[in-house]
Amino acid sequence: MTRPDRSDINRLQQRAGRPEDAPLRGKDGVRLPPRYRANPVTRNPNSSAGEVFLVGAGPGDPELLTLKAWRILQSAEVVLYDRLVSQPILDMIPDGAHMVHVGKQRSNHSVPQDEINQRLVTLAREGRQVVRLKGGDPFIFGRGGEEIETLAEAGVRFQVVPGITAASGCAAYAGIPLTHRDHAQSVRFVTGHLKNDTCDLPWNDFVQTHQTLVFYMGLVGLPIIVRELTAHGMRPTMPVALVSRGTTPEQEVVCGTLENIVERVQQREVPAPTLVIIGEVVSLRNRLDWMAAVQTMDGRETP
Ligand SMILES: C[S@@+](CC[C@H](N)C(=O)[O-])C[C@H]1O[C@@H](n2cnc3c(N)ncnc32)[C@H](O)[C@@H]1O
Repeated sequence: MTRPDRSDINRLQQRAGRPEDAPLRGKDGVRLPPRYRANPVTRNPNSSAGEVFLVGAGPGDPELLTLKAWRILQSAEVVLYDRLVSQPILDMIPDGAHMVHVGKQRSNHSVPQDEINQRLVTLAREGRQVVRLKGGDPFIFGRGGEEIETLAEAGVRFQVVPGITAASGCAAYAGIPLTHRDHAQSVRFVTGHLKNDTCDLPWNDFVQTHQTLVFYMGLVGLPIIVRELTAHGMRPTMPVALVSRGTTPEQEVVCGTLENIVERVQQREVPAPTLVIIGEVVSLRNRLDWMAAVQTMDGRETP
């Protein structure tokens, strides 16, 4: 692949409306255009109203936090955060912020959802600038919709900042492209949290070819997922990957096929959180596991 030369870069920058000489970075890090520099958390001097920022923290690697999320966290007064928000991200929050852990674990909601919703309303009504910090993206299996529905009903102002969802983060760091013109033209994000073993999911749709399935919260239900996909006609040799603690230094990937993945996962006793990726694209990891290649080539620590 040929590298673009300086004139190509200038042309692209001009097309994007950026002056040629403008530095890509300032001395103090990334330089943003002025309209993005204003701090959205700054209080309106004419109003004592609080506001809630529903912010996605990404899957774990702190460098996957968006600039906007980071900027909002720098001046938050209260941060309500979930269990899946990684420690390095929590460490980036200034000491002055009041931190409240409302984390949920499977079957163990330390603070019930209704109570979290109500706390957000109360804090905003007290005039606080509140960050509701969630793992991944708040709108993907994150109950972000429920929380802002409550805020909307209560007339509380809110903003939403998306995050990198676990599917994108884990797939990228495992070297598994979720779509690929030769293998998958669509991708489905599915909850693997199957209530009372009930399987009221559209299994017939899931076994269509040329698509990738990503199961969130699928570790406990993995035997049922495998059983149902097999019963609905997916071939037993379909490649499957389970990514544990994706994008963190502890990331582990267990690969197999529909017929042997349950056994392999049981043998390794992989810790949560885990994400299950099923589809032809998983086989590409044999060639595209860039992280293993980087580690082998120069001993660098990744992520
Ligand atoms: C309640 S859902 C929240 C998903 C989150 N809102 C997102 O967009 O990634 C929690 C599930 O996300 C997945 N997950 C989140 N972070 C992960 C990580 N670092 N590695 C693997 N799976 C992860 C797991 O399936 C976990 O059970």
